[in-house]
Amino acid sequence: MSGLRLAMLALALLSSVSVALAPALSAVEGARERLLMDSGWRFARGDACSAERDFEYGTGVPWAKDGAAPVGAMRENFDDSKWRAVDLPHDWAVELEFAPPSAENWNLMAWGFKPLGRHKPATSIGWYRRRFDLPPTDSGRRLAVEFDGVFRDCMAWLNGHFLGRHMSGYGSFAYDITDYVNYGGKNVLVVRVDATEHEGWWYEGAGIYRHVWLVKTDPVHVAHWGTYVTSQTVKGVTEVTARTRIVNESGHDASVQLILTVIDADGHTAASVKSKPIALEAWTAIEPVERLPLKEPKRWSLDSPHMYRLVTTIANNGVEVDRGETPFGIRTITFDPDQGFFLNGKPLKIKGVCCHQDHAGVGVALPDRIQYYRIEQLKAMGVNAYRAAHNPPAPELLDACDRLGMLVMDEQRQMGSAPEVLDELERMVRRDRNHPSIILWSLGNEETAIQGNDKGARVLADMKRVVKRLDPTRPVTAAMNGDWGKGFSTVVDIQGCNYMKSGDVDAYHEQHPTQPMIGTEEASTLCTRGIYANDAAKGYVTAYDVNAPAWGSTAEAWWKFYAARPFIAGGFAWTGFDYRGEPTPYAWPCVNSHFGIMDTCGFPKDIYYYYQAWWTDQPVLHIFPHWNWPGKEGQEVAVWCYSNCDEVELFLNGKSLGAKQVEPNSHVEWKVAYEPGVVEARGHRGGRVAQAPSPVVVATTKVETTGPPAKLALTPDRLTINADGEDVALAVAAVLDDKGRAVPTADNLVSFEASGGARIIGVGNGDPSSHEPDKAAQRKAFNGLCMAIVQAGREAGPIRLTATSPGLEPASVTIAAAPATPRPSVPVP
Ligand code: GAL
Repeated sequence: MSGLRLAMLALALLSSVSVALAPALSAVEGARERLLMDSGWRFARGDACSAERDFEYGTGVPWAKDGAAPVGAMRENFDDSKWRAVDLPHDWAVELEFAPPSAENWNLMAWGFKPLGRHKPATSIGWYRRRFDLPPTDSGRRLAVEFDGVFRDCMAWLNGHFLGRHMSGYGSFAYDITDYVNYGGKNVLVVRVDATEHEGWWYEGAGIYRHVWLVKTDPVHVAHWGTYVTSQTVKGVTEVTARTRIVNESGHDASVQLILTVIDADGHTAASVKSKPIALEAWTAIEPVERLPLKEPKRWSLDSPHMYRLVTTIANNGVEVDRGETPFGIRTITFDPDQGFFLNGKPLKIKGVCCHQDHAGVGVALPDRIQYYRIEQLKAMGVNAYRAAHNPPAPELLDACDRLGMLVMDEQRQMGSAPEVLDELERMVRRDRNHPSIILWSLGNEETAIQGNDKGARVLADMKRVVKRLDPTRPVTAAMNGDWGKGFSTVVDIQGCNYMKSGDVDAYHEQHPTQPMIGTEEASTLCTRGIYANDAAKGYVTAYDVNAPAWGSTAEAWWKFYAARPFIAGGFAWTGFDYRGEPTPYAWPCVNSHFGIMDTCGFPKDIYYYYQAWWTDQPVLHIFPHWNWPGKEGQEVAVWCYSNCDEVELFLNGKSLGAKQVEPNSHVEWKVAYEPGVVEARGHRGGRVAQAPSPVVVATTKVETTGPPAKLALTPDRLTINADGEDVALAVAAVLDDKGRAVPTADNLVSFEASGGARIIGVGNGDPSSHEPDKAAQRKAFNGLCMAIVQAGREAGPIRLTATSPGLEPASVTIAAAPATPRPSVPVP
């Protein structure tokens, strides 16, 4: 018996005791390791039109003669020392300058106006190389590399051997590299990424923009995404069902035992079970099903998103060979055709937003923390559901939704029944099906060529079959912008309506009384943060809730419609955040969408407070516009108020302009002759000023005419972050006047500096027409605000973040980088 085997036996004996008493929670060393492979990459841009500049790609036969043929950068011993050092996640598109569309390259919008595509060969290809060593003791283990997402069409080689090609930029995929590695020696993973083509019509980024992992297992192990946990409660008894796909990737027969332990959020063992030994022949797989009764389970809900963990241990002939954890939650979901959606048996109107995945400063390469920040911002607004539009999100986005309490509609990018598309779909469902946050699989969006015909029905039926085979617990839908009742509608469980204007929602419900309905996409309301008049030249849309394209509606119009119809489960507004590309109603030089309820930094637009007023129970009182209108003295300014108070009274410089009753799901407004000073609103509940003896003022707010910019303020989202080289703080810089009031029109250039081993990984300001670089340490304020994203190094201690601007008093803040253990990762040689 080898030393490794003996060590594993010893660990197994230890762990068999610990399973019975208090299970150990980390993977057993030597049995399974999942190592982050984000640091230490070399990167260079290739060129789709030049073999020389594309490191000889295309001049050899990279896959026909295994290992013999690779040329150029695919070669094991290629000299990449002159390539740039990069860490993942990485998006090279966000580093490029904006580019204007041209006659031949008119569709640059689909790349967020970055120079990618058929006509931009020199900036559309990226090469990545990562060297790593493997100890001789890895011999005999199975090794795989897992990619969470690469945009797009990537080919990978390990030590000169071709591993595979993956097309879609949104799916997660893995390659077994066992046959090709050098044990006890040097290895190199090479990835060529071709972002020439786009998959959507928005900014999609370019590069290895999600994590990469090196996974080492015993030959007998749980398959990739091989655990599927469901639960059911029958007559008050809850049972967890675990399906575990165990593979024997060795030439020896095995006798496996499966030990499953459910751990609650407090770390207590809630249930456990041990299977009888099961024979597992060489090079075969099994999928035993085990059931674990759970006493008084804690439900996963939006307010209390309780997560359990299933610890899966595999023993082979009594030796522990694998251990892993699967987070899951216990909850029930029901879509009712008359009463809408129910979570854990309680009705819940879906108040959702659609989102693309890019963020200011980083493009699509989001550090994990930004996923959490975005979900926190949405939750604070009252959002309870997230549509991953129009693609499977990063795994960490789903973790954030699980942990923070947010429902998810997970969406397949590619539509069709071709093997590649069905494989992509299968991988999405296998990867994501344990997340309690996911309530709905969306199989397509606005598939206008087939959504209304028989061909479409056939295709969708194939896709639905794949989903139901892998996850019969969730319904499927497709987002249809017309043809309701035909094609897709005859296949989906839930009728998905993209825009109430695309059909007749009420008639559909009447004609299909047994089919639940949901608004998969609505709104597309257009606003720019802090702007109060349309300005086509600058590419700005007023922030009053008055503009939408022909197919969309104002926030107030769509939400009133949905709120009034209990039969429809709810809907998803397009979109939670602005994103690059789709600058509707404008075009270049405007480069960002205006659909967001927040801008690309996550700064709320006024409309955010409309939703917050009607989607939360907290008292909300928000008035706009700002009150800096020099030159408009005496002219009428529309003052709008979003509030869920019964009544709001407005004051200008202390003088009442009258109280107005607030109708549900509406706003109130006044016409106010401008004079500088203070506009104040008081919100009342439990009585009206006019009638009640003592109305209760539950909220007050004001906007004030400010002086000119005088100083800066810096507010990070958190004052303590982890010194793990990954965590970030999102710091808001605000321009203030000498009295400390935010100057709502300020556009001062702000420079950022961070000490303590931290680095500024990107900046933004939410200006939809800004062509300033994201990868910089300075940014102009847009309507008073800009943001710097600060990433901690690996040394604990204070990070001093400073913001300066010519002529303004600077600001600084200390962010503590707390000692943290970096995630296990592949050492950089
Ligand atoms: C929808 C589409 C979205 C976005 C939106 C803009 O039709 O599904 O991706 O383009 O329009 O309003």
